[in-house]
Amino acid sequence: MPNTSTVSFSSPSNIAFIKYWGKFGRQLPMNPSISMTLSNCVSKCSVEFELDSNHIGISSFEFEGVENQAFRARLEKFLVSICDIYPLANKLSLKIKSENTFPHSAGIASSASAMSAFCACLVEIEQRVVGGVENIDQRISMLSRLASGSACRSVFSHYAYWGESRLAQLKSSNEYALEFHDFHDSFKEVMDSILIVSSEEKSVSSSQGHILMNGHPFKDARIEQAHENFTSIMSAMKTGDWDHFGEVLENEALTLHALMMSSYPSFILLKPNSLLIIEKVRAYRELTSDPLYFTIDAGPNIHLIYPASHAKSIKDFINTELSPICDQGRVIHDSIGPGKIQLQ
Ligand code: DP6
Repeated sequence: MPNTSTVSFSSPSNIAFIKYWGKFGRQLPMNPSISMTLSNCVSKCSVEFELDSNHIGISSFEFEGVENQAFRARLEKFLVSICDIYPLANKLSLKIKSENTFPHSAGIASSASAMSAFCACLVEIEQRVVGGVENIDQRISMLSRLASGSACRSVFSHYAYWGESRLAQLKSSNEYALEFHDFHDSFKEVMDSILIVSSEEKSVSSSQGHILMNGHPFKDARIEQAHENFTSIMSAMKTGDWDHFGEVLENEALTLHALMMSSYPSFILLKPNSLLIIEKVRAYRELTSDPLYFTIDAGPNIHLIYPASHAKSIKDFINTELSPICDQGRVIHDSIGPGKIQLQ
């Protein structure tokens, strides 16, 4: 008689304010980063596990109801790579089902949500089979980091930071992310409206981009700047200084893309409409003084960050002026969220 049980978690995507760009060693970040956890862009992962069966590893992986060999192979490789720190990987047979609440074709990175949901399942299995797991969120975050760096921040509610900082009073680690609690009331309810400029496959993946930071001519300057921006944005979030927050946020987004453009070989992920949206957002801000700022991940899509208190006027602006220049008019309105959640 097979002795199987199932665990399920949901976990969201996150949007970085200070960007993780460049890594070393075993998936350790070149600089500290901080992100906002999202609410609607979520992956759900369900893992049926059996101990000491005839088949060790992943016996099936269904993505949105369809068997997916490419994802199965990626997760299998990940499990093999973590055997030294997750020894159960050598004893489990897993059947995995995963789905996203956001369309796969939207050009939104799904590895952060998918990997953190899967790692939350792995740690829950460990707790059930072996027991005594301490610092559970830290362990989920650490395993998630090994799967995909930015995934380590998705575990936590509101805001999470990852990477050793130079702030003496702040506990920080390269191994896992931590929740950032010390923010002003005006940062409690924050929106991220994601403007889909293009949903085409990216010409260069994030992983390739990280590698290009190794010999980058601006590497040292970038590390310095990231530390300064990290300190600065945390202080703006603490005091509720949205102007300063926005200045640093946009500087980080444009720096990330400037680093891509100045890599050898160089690459450009922004599209003409990404720039048009940036111009329109800045003009709107000039005109209204509304606290509306943009950030951009490793892709052409623009994330608009603003306090929920200004949602009405800003959404009107997005619908009338920005949505028409998006891919098929697509905008995903998301907001700050609670991190990973156990399902059932
Ligand atoms: C631009 O976490 O996708 O989104 O560690 O190779 O999986 P891997 O890279 P990934 O890189 C994300 C880069 C970024 C910035 C960020 O999220 O901090």
